[in-house]
Amino acid sequence: MAILVLGGAGYIGSHTVYELIEAGRDVVVADNLLTGFKAAVHPKARFYQADIRDRAAMDEIFEQESIDGVIHFAASSQVGESMSNPLKYYDNNLCGTCVLLQSMVAHGVDKIVFSSTAATYGEPERVPILETDKTQPTNCYGETKLAMEKMMNWTGRAHGLRYVALRYFNACGAHPSGAIGEAHNPETHLIPLILQVPNGKREKISIFGDDYATHDGTCIRDYIHVSDLAQAHILALDYLLKGGESNVFNLGNGVGFTVKEVIDVARKVTGHPIPAEVCPRRAGDPAQLVASSEKARTVLGWNPKYADLETIVSSAWSWHKSHPNGFEG
Ligand code: UFG
Repeated sequence: MAILVLGGAGYIGSHTVYELIEAGRDVVVADNLLTGFKAAVHPKARFYQADIRDRAAMDEIFEQESIDGVIHFAASSQVGESMSNPLKYYDNNLCGTCVLLQSMVAHGVDKIVFSSTAATYGEPERVPILETDKTQPTNCYGETKLAMEKMMNWTGRAHGLRYVALRYFNACGAHPSGAIGEAHNPETHLIPLILQVPNGKREKISIFGDDYATHDGTCIRDYIHVSDLAQAHILALDYLLKGGESNVFNLGNGVGFTVKEVIDVARKVTGHPIPAEVCPRRAGDPAQLVASSEKARTVLGWNPKYADLETIVSSAWSWHKSHPNGFEG
């Protein structure tokens, strides 16, 4: 029996495929390669270039392969873009997931683990954030992810599908082998943008606002290594395979770092002065997002290995130093 990884050529998807294959699992990857990279797909995975919105393509995979469970990363994930082009997010994230679930139901595949996000909470009422806290997204990306969770829930009630929604905080870092890492085009995330400075691709890093109510005025985030996220997907899938009920888990380290602190860690790791410039706030950024991941630790037995930010930034730096253009040469 195989695991189908949708979006397995993307950042978190490709790292999860590596972990699954290292754990001896049989893996099928489907990706439309609009934002993912074929070079990121593990050579031992069977690859289909397919879009989740394409019902015939989904049906073909479920007919060709013997799929035991699905891990679903295939979604658009840029907060800013979701505000300027919301219908793209409804189309790809919601319509796509709807087609996928129709195909799964038709083929009797009833277990799915998928990427949700801290953006489902919106501006948190308190930190660390618990899964039971209010979900009131402040951007369309978070709104579509919350709607995906609800779509799974209603589909589960009607058709017996079981799901695990994993609400990630800030994914970062790269595979310890150096084979794969973070590559987005355009890049919008803090750590890869900082590392473009010592890589000679950017003169300075912009700090989006230093007037937040935090100890140094810059935003606080919970940075979690992509390999730890990948492990959580395997644990969540095993939880469903063992009969676990549908569930939602936060995934973070439970420790927050400010933008300035992250830049300081990157200066230490790279030995580069990394000039920084304070700019206006970026629209829609909450001041603080820090997870309580107690539930994932207790129920799934998840135990992140890369809790230290310096280790995380070092792994990202190894990747970016050796792949300054990501997978594109
Ligand atoms: N930031 C800067 N300068 C930059 C880029 C980012 O100061 O050049 C700041 C942001 O304002 C934010 C922090 O660095 O305070 C982290 O920003 P990222 O863009 O790296 O990550 P976000 O916290 O905005 O977004 C992440 C995920 C989203 C997810 C969101 C949940 O990338 O997919 O967390 O809120 F939706």
